[in-house]
Formats: sequence, structure tokens, C-alpha cells
Amino acid sequence: MALTAHQGEILHCLEDPSLDNSDAWEYFEKGLLLIEDGYIVNCGAEDHLSGQLPQDVPVIKHEHALILPGFIDTHIHYPQTEVIASYGTRLIEWLEQYTFPAEMAFADPEKCRSMAEFFIRELLRNGTTSAMVFATVHPQSVDAFFEEANRLNTRMVCGKVMMDRNAPEGLTDTVLSGYERSRDLIKKWHGKGRLGYAVTPRFAITSTAEQLASAGRLLSEFPGVHFQTHLAENPEECDLVSEFFPNCQDYLDVYDRYSLLGRRSVFAHGIHLCDREWQRLRETDSSVAYCPASNLFIGSGMFDLEKADLHGVRVGMGTDVAGGDSFSMLRTINQAYKVQQLQQYNLSPLRSVYMSTLGGARALDLDRYIGNFETGKEADFIVLDYAPTDLVRLRLQSTSSVMERLFVLQMLGDDRAIRETWVMGNKAYAKDARQTVV
Ligand code: GUN
Ligand code: ZN
Repeated sequence: MALTAHQGEILHCLEDPSLDNSDAWEYFEKGLLLIEDGYIVNCGAEDHLSGQLPQDVPVIKHEHALILPGFIDTHIHYPQTEVIASYGTRLIEWLEQYTFPAEMAFADPEKCRSMAEFFIRELLRNGTTSAMVFATVHPQSVDAFFEEANRLNTRMVCGKVMMDRNAPEGLTDTVLSGYERSRDLIKKWHGKGRLGYAVTPRFAITSTAEQLASAGRLLSEFPGVHFQTHLAENPEECDLVSEFFPNCQDYLDVYDRYSLLGRRSVFAHGIHLCDREWQRLRETDSSVAYCPASNLFIGSGMFDLEKADLHGVRVGMGTDVAGGDSFSMLRTINQAYKVQQLQQYNLSPLRSVYMSTLGGARALDLDRYIGNFETGKEADFIVLDYAPTDLVRLRLQSTSSVMERLFVLQMLGDDRAIRETWVMGNKAYAKDARQTVV
């Protein structure tokens, strides 16, 4: 693929804007994004860059739109797609009533294939180019997901769920089979193309101490693989964990005892944590996936972003479909903003962009590849439409800065605001075409 230039309004983050760093972001009202062979060659003001371009470079114009790095969803379950928006329950009952029956169907490889296809298409339609994804206990669910992610050349992290207790027959493995199947999947997929494997015990309730220890063994035997699980999402869950692990200091300590914390570990939710747990997350450089839509939808509680910030813990955004009721990162940001408002903490539009792009990449320890438009990174980006609906168009007429426009899109926007999604320099979704192009 030759050099291509994308012309339009461009915004991306270089740092966490909450750290009072005036160099945290770059904005070009008339910008150029230069891409060659799927990688960013340069990003800057058109005035500055256009003189350096060869004459025959194709220029793709994006008018009345904002170009951002692709969204990164740090926590989501692809096998739960079909039970999104299920009524009336809190976590444990929700798992039993909706989630586990849905996951059972993934024993069938054909089901895995059709849902993996649907799921990634839905991510791209919502402007999400990378995600950290739970599959089910079935190895075929991981195979199907990675096959589709690889076909589309998307950067994705996924893992087989490990559960050796407190789950229906048909959704459990054993200490040995969980270990061996995860190991085989790591060998098959981790590092292939843009794919990464995550060791994935569901949470402390559905894994015995022995299984958590085997997960720790996998992390030590395969340095570089990721780790994902759930942590302190719901009060009933927290009570059960202290019952199951009476010798542990607190919930995080359960995972800590089995060497599951670290730079590549992502803990979903982290709502009900004490200061010691926050400190320990920081000491071990672990990160947290903030899932506001899910935390509201299944009534789990309010995430304390201020606490995370005070302790310097990396936080990415997660939709947590299907605890979360939307694939849209814009809608997720909308809910995050309101949850922080209720706690008198301000979530700026720029910080929200950071958390759903570069901050997400950092939470997944993938920021050397994705998250912004630095030279050499993979060219995953989205084109946000400044007129997805009449209301947004009307509202934007009375804005005067990109931050104001961004905030309006975050509060009023959804999948309709995603005009195009580009993956490694290729158009992977276009709203006008009403289809995935790749
Ligand atoms: N805790 C354990 N499993 C799950 C799950 O599938 N979704 C959510 N939101 N929380 C969990
Ligand atoms: Zn989850």
C-alpha cells in the first residue's frame, strides 16, 4: 500500500490530560494524517506537512468531521452479545439467569463463528478497533474469535474463560484441563499477527485456589501474555469471596496470592475496593477497566475514578457488554461523565478521549502499537460525524471549540456518529455503505 494522506480535523492524546500537562494532546483544525503500509508516517498541520508530500499522494478528505484514534474497549464479553439488555437482576442472578445459558451455546463451533463475526462487525460500527475480550470456557470460542479478528487484521486480546466451580456443568473445566487448554491456545494464537492472549479466570467465585494458582503458572511460563478477570463489582460477590477465601486480606489479595497482578493484568470494575487494594494495584502496576454502563445497568455501584487517579492506577474504559447495554464508547463516556458528576468529580471531554484511546492502550500495555497518531503506530482511526442527527447538528451550531464539540458528541452521540472506521490504514466500516467493507 502506498502513502495515503487523510485530511481533516484531527485530535489525539500524547499523555494523560488529568496530569495537568499542557502537552497532553494535539489538535489540528486542518490536519493531515499520513499513512503507509498501515502505519502512521506523520500527523500534523496541513500547512506544515503538505509541502513535504510527493505530488501524486492520494488525499482523502473528511469534511465536517473529527478524526480520532480508534476506540479501545478494555473489557467486553463477546458471547453475551445476544443477551444484551436483559431485565431485572443483579450480578449473581444475572449470571445464572442470562449469561450462563447464553455461554452454553458456544459449545457449537458454528455458533462461535457467527457470533464472532457479528460481534467484531458491531465493534467496528461503533468505532472500536481494539478490545480485551472474554470468550467462554470452550476453546472453540477463542479460535472463532481470533480467526475473525485475524481476518480483519484488528488488534484484539482474548482468552478462554477458566471456571472449575460454581458454574453449570458444560461451562466448567478442571484445574488440569483449564491449564492445558489455555496453554494450547496461547501457543496457537499469542503474538500471531495483531492478536494477544489473556489468561482469563472468570472471577474468584468460579475458580478454586488451585485453578487460580494454575493461572499464575501460565503467566510465569508465558511472559508477555495478558491477564483479565473481574474484581469487586458487586457487594454480594465481595461477601462470597471473603467466605471462599477467609485467609485473604481482601478481594484483591486473592488474586495477589496467586501472582496474578502486574503490568499486563486488567481488573474489571473495581468498585468496592479499600485503600490497601488501590495501593497494591499501583505497586504492581495493574490496571482497571471502568465499565460505567454495566455498573449502572446491573446496579453494581459507582466507580471512584478520583481514587484511582489519587493512587495513580491506570484506568481504561470498558463497555462490558452484556452487563453493559451498549457497544458504543460514546454512550459509555456519557454514563461515565454522569457517574463522576454524582461524585463531584469532573470527567473532561479530553480525559474521556484519553481513557478510551491512549489510556485504554496503556491499560492493556499495548500503547507501543495503538492509542494515538505517533509515527510508527498502527493506523487505526475513526471519523466522527459532526451531523449524525438533526439535534447534534443544531447543538453544534452554538459551539466554538473542539472540546465543546467533542463533549456534545460524547453526550448525544452513539453509533450514528461513527462515519467511518479504519483499521491498519484500510476502511473497515463506512456508515454510508451500511456495511463492513473489509
Ligand atoms: N463477574 C463474573 N462474570 C461476570 C460477567 O460475565 N459479567 C460481569 N459484568 N461481571 C462478571
Ligand atoms: Zn465483565
